[in-house]
Amino acid sequence: MSSNILIEAKNLTKEYIRGRKEVVVAVNDVDLEIPRGKLIMVTGPSGSGKSTLLNVLSGLDKPTEGKIIFSDEDISEWEEDRLAQFRQENIGFIFQNWELIRTLTALENIESPLYPLKIKSKEIRTRAISLLKQVGLWDKVDNFPDELSGGEQQRIGIARALVGKPKIIFADEPTGNLDLDNAGSVMRLLKSFTKRDTAILVVSHNEELKKYADKAHRMSNGRFI
Ligand SMILES: Nc1ncnc2c1ncn2[C@@H]1O[C@H](COP(=O)(O)OP(=O)(O)O)[C@@H](O)[C@H]1O
Ligand SMILES: [Mg+2]
Repeated sequence: MSSNILIEAKNLTKEYIRGRKEVVVAVNDVDLEIPRGKLIMVTGPSGSGKSTLLNVLSGLDKPTEGKIIFSDEDISEWEEDRLAQFRQENIGFIFQNWELIRTLTALENIESPLYPLKIKSKEIRTRAISLLKQVGLWDKVDNFPDELSGGEQQRIGIARALVGKPKIIFADEPTGNLDLDNAGSVMRLLKSFTKRDTAILVVSHNEELKKYADKAHRMSNGRFI
């Protein structure tokens, strides 16, 4: 394995039991490499297994079979405590509905993942201000989420995902609630952060977004095709 690979899935399979005994193979024998500083995409129709793949890769859910290799270790064997720490130290998440906290300002939303950590408030503020500027929303510093457009809220979501200095960002349909122009600018913004060695995995039903990716995989019925 090249040391350039940050996280790697090998023969990853995730099955769910639906109802009494129907087995759904949501992810079926998938191999995936996520290198440092690259934007990787997985596209496919609704129900093809994209969110499941992302949840299993990020340690939020356990695979039924296969391995997830990070720093020469198989994280799928780790206990929940260790996985939680792994996520906190290494992963940033971006969501379709951005999931900002309505009672916090733009700046405070960016800071919020760091509040439970032992980081000085001055350092937290410095980082958040820098990110707010990088996502082009310095003029919205004191605005609340309800006062921002969808595209602006997702830019705050991106800044929030980056504030913990993660090695990898997982984004599930990050442009799902945006129009074409805003979707493009969100993807270009994400791509710009790969220049600092951050790896990004975007999963989306939107095939058009592939043009922003360094590499794209297509998923159908749980498999890469
Ligand atoms: N918790 C669950 N229990 C049972 N089936 C699930 C669960 N989560 C997802 N599935 C099923 O797994 C398949 C893949 O779903 P998902 O990963 O959400 O696909 P996508 O994100 O591509 O729309 C679907 O058939 C879905 O119904
Ligand atoms: Mg999904």
